[in-house]
Amino acid sequence: MALRGVLRLGEVSIRVLDMKAARQHYGTHMGLIETLVDEEGKVYYKCWDEHDHHCLVLREADSAGMDHFAFKVFDDQTLTELEGKLRAYGIEVEHIAAGVYPKSGRRLKFLLPTGHTMHLYAEKEQIGNTLGTRNPGVMPDEGVIRGFRINRIDHLLIGGDKIDENAKLFQEVFEFDMTERLEDVDTKASLSIFVSCSTKPHDIAFVVQPEPNRFHHVSFLLESVSDLVHAGDLIGKYRIPVEVNSNRHGITRGATIYFFDPSGNRNEVFTGGYVHYPDTPTLTWDTSELGAAAFSQDNTFRDSFFTVLT
Ligand SMILES: [Fe+2]
Repeated sequence: MALRGVLRLGEVSIRVLDMKAARQHYGTHMGLIETLVDEEGKVYYKCWDEHDHHCLVLREADSAGMDHFAFKVFDDQTLTELEGKLRAYGIEVEHIAAGVYPKSGRRLKFLLPTGHTMHLYAEKEQIGNTLGTRNPGVMPDEGVIRGFRINRIDHLLIGGDKIDENAKLFQEVFEFDMTERLEDVDTKASLSIFVSCSTKPHDIAFVVQPEPNRFHHVSFLLESVSDLVHAGDLIGKYRIPVEVNSNRHGITRGATIYFFDPSGNRNEVFTGGYVHYPDTPTLTWDTSELGAAAFSQDNTFRDSFFTVLT
């Protein structure tokens, strides 16, 4: 598979209760690079090894949670084709002109069956990763990689009541593969579904919730497990609330830490996981092995994983 079509998660826009505390968390502690404060006071961040202008947007609000997320597609022609496919599938699509979202080309905006607002875009201003593109070397100058040593945004998990419909849309319209699925061992109902548009074990996942439009977490990619241990040390140093310390997921096989920003939004740092190809079979887990599916080093599920969302 040559990677075309929908490329990757490109942007997550989340609400925070206190911007000063949020900037300390995402900027000072996690080490994301602040690239813009817009006229509405929204703060934009990128990770060091991303070329695009930003991947995370913070907006101060009265409630935590997610405003929207956006996937980047290969080019403008892909965007046009996906609009046709979305409309044929029965999804209403709104046009957003270039520049309405800072540094961004035109976008398609629509609602998922789970009630989340999703965007697709093909263009975002590229500002590089400081290495350049000729003889770039392997690491930036001292001080560019800071805090948790985060390379890039990786994936997100969203919660809602119609996760099977989300999975169908992502598979049929966006050509994602279902990599893994967790089901109730008795009813066979889907509890969470993992889908990929790349060779990663997931680019987005869905967890069943009684309410629509819930945000579970945004995950950031680290280069190695030693970076995960380093991030864990900083999480302790800065007294960041931890939900699950260094562990490994059964699903995706990624090494992970879950923690919360000062507004209660869940974050993850993630590294590893297997390589997915389009002919890799879908893996099914059931609740008879719920602990191992979630956290394979202690085989213990955390109830908060299904109940604490923003
Ligand atoms: Fe995750």
